[in-house]
Amino acid sequence: MRLNKFIAESGFASRRKADEFISQGRVTVNNEIVMNLGVVIDPDKDIVKIDGSKIKTEIKAYFLLNKPSGIVSTTNDEKGRVAVTDLIKTKFKIYPVGRLDYNTTGVLLLTNDGDFTNLMLHPSNKIEREYLVLLDKDLREEDRIVLTKHVQLEGKNSKFNSITYLKEKNYRSMRVVTVEGRNHFVKNMFSLLGYTVKKLKRIRFGPFTVDNIPEGKYMILNRSDIEKFIKSMNKNNGRRNFGKSKQSE
Ligand code: URA
Repeated sequence: MRLNKFIAESGFASRRKADEFISQGRVTVNNEIVMNLGVVIDPDKDIVKIDGSKIKTEIKAYFLLNKPSGIVSTTNDEKGRVAVTDLIKTKFKIYPVGRLDYNTTGVLLLTNDGDFTNLMLHPSNKIEREYLVLLDKDLREEDRIVLTKHVQLEGKNSKFNSITYLKEKNYRSMRVVTVEGRNHFVKNMFSLLGYTVKKLKRIRFGPFTVDNIPEGKYMILNRSDIEKFIKSMNKNNGRRNFGKSKQSE
């Protein structure tokens, strides 16, 4: 197995991060520093260490949480606030797949699988995120068009794929779809045009929804759900639903 894949599968880091560790000379195989990204190891025999700590391959674990408001999406918060990982009972060292803001609710995946995280977050995979948004005031039609065509945000061409209203003649509540995963993306997009996001819920990330999961609860996804999704990605852009018909914990 390639060294970077082994590190990613151990849950220690994403494949990209693993490459960084290798290039920085922080990885040893059988106590020899290895800086060649293509190196192949035998996971049953070779001893891999990062910064002197031994890496083991781990069982992969996947959780789909309906994140409540007032919880941070980091694994530990310097202010000691409740973190999303505090809501999940597991012996695995898991971390969130991307972030939701403190007050944002809804779909949050957590795992120890670096490859899966990379796949979900890599911009080239264009995985859709769908949000319910409540604004402080009515969205003007010209602004809706601008936000779905093109704006410059943080020096990058940015847009929402779609903005659709939830009710007739209510222009404050809407459903927004985007493939962007930058932090605070939805709030920053609206803020550019003078709107404040009052409420934000992510209702879908790729095929994952929390339709049957109460806030603060989660369900365990199994490896076969994840594999089905990975296979379906090429076929139908990952739109199958995995959160719909299952029991939450
Ligand atoms: N965009 C935001 O502004 N906040 C989130 O939590 C997620 C997307």
